Amino acid sequence: MPSVRRAVLAAVLSLLILPAVAQTDPVARGRYLVEGIAGCGNCHTPKGPQGDLPGMNLAGGTVFDEQPFRAIASNITSDPETGIGRWTDAQIARAIREGIRPDGRIIGPPMPIELYRGISDADLAAMAAYLRTVPAVRNAVPASEYRIPLPPNYGPPVATVPRPADDPVSRGRYLAGPIGHCIDCHTPMTQDGHRDWSRTGQGGQPFTGPWGTSVARNITPDRERGLGGWTDAQIVRAVTAGVAADGRQLFPPMGYGYYARVDARDLADIVAYLRSLPVQP
Ligand code: HEC
Ligand code: HEC
Repeated sequence: MPSVRRAVLAAVLSLLILPAVAQTDPVARGRYLVEGIAGCGNCHTPKGPQGDLPGMNLAGGTVFDEQPFRAIASNITSDPETGIGRWTDAQIARAIREGIRPDGRIIGPPMPIELYRGISDADLAAMAAYLRTVPAVRNAVPASEYRIPLPPNYGPPVATVPRPADDPVSRGRYLAGPIGHCIDCHTPMTQDGHRDWSRTGQGGQPFTGPWGTSVARNITPDRERGLGGWTDAQIVRAVTAGVAADGRQLFPPMGYGYYARVDARDLADIVAYLRSLPVQP
């Protein structure tokens, strides 16, 4: 039965080819990043007691009330009045990677622009392409207030950023850094308010919210304080399901639900990168 065999072959081939198509189609790639590992909605989608408010994906309004600022996440849906519907792809890309809006105003913390400067050209274009397809939600968001001076910029203009090298640790470093900003929350601050990258992954930063206060953990391979004694599967479960090796339920603000959408290869590469970090006590 050659026709059946041909149909089976076609079905098998389409299964093999589909993921590759999804990764090269910019909108699909952008959705995978923005709604997954990048977890933009963890800040940009307003939350209620049951989690994300329905019909408000990326519509802004989350308040970050801290000593140096009262920042309010912007509406980044395609609404022309209250979102970014009038911005060009290039303007959206510059806002994400350089923290500069079309009118020149700087985007303040806590958006991790310092890390976003390392987003590759291809992934940045994919994110912008996807954001343009996000359904418009009319939601006017008040302006943020910063009681600290904001820098004029986050560095010189970023000309071009290549994709990471194709080995697990390089891919994982990219996913846990510029894309997923794991190391933003999990790295302590210096006295002058910058991340102390000499202690990457050491943890210690407290996060207060409706859940109480959670403290970012040590995610270096230290056997006592870090993940040295954890299996790969236990690390993946913590990241994607919010359950620690000892069964403890983990608290926000880590975006477990977003990481649940990350594919197996990317998760394995993040684990490989975490295992490559210098041990921090
Ligand atoms: C840790 C929280 C946080 C994360 C993560 C975050 N943002 Fe933001 N973002 C903010 C806040 C807060 C503002 C407003 C800052 C201000 O008022 O200066 C903002 C502003 C913006 C703006 C400017 C919009 C405007 O109308 O001025 C864009 C665009 C944007 N974010 C896109 C993104 C994208 C895309 C991602 C994911 C790749 C992302 N953000 C991740 C908190 C975050
Ligand atoms: C917005 C801040 C934030 C981001 C981003 C974040 N985390 Fe976390 N993470 C935390 C906090 C806070 C805890 C502790 C939660 C608790 O104890 O209930 C935690 C816990 C963990 C744990 C459990 C460790 C333990 O000893 O229990 C692992 C593993 C982990 N994070 C890895 C990651 C990885 C990998 C990423 C990126 C994919 C990431 N985190 C992104 C804040 C964050």
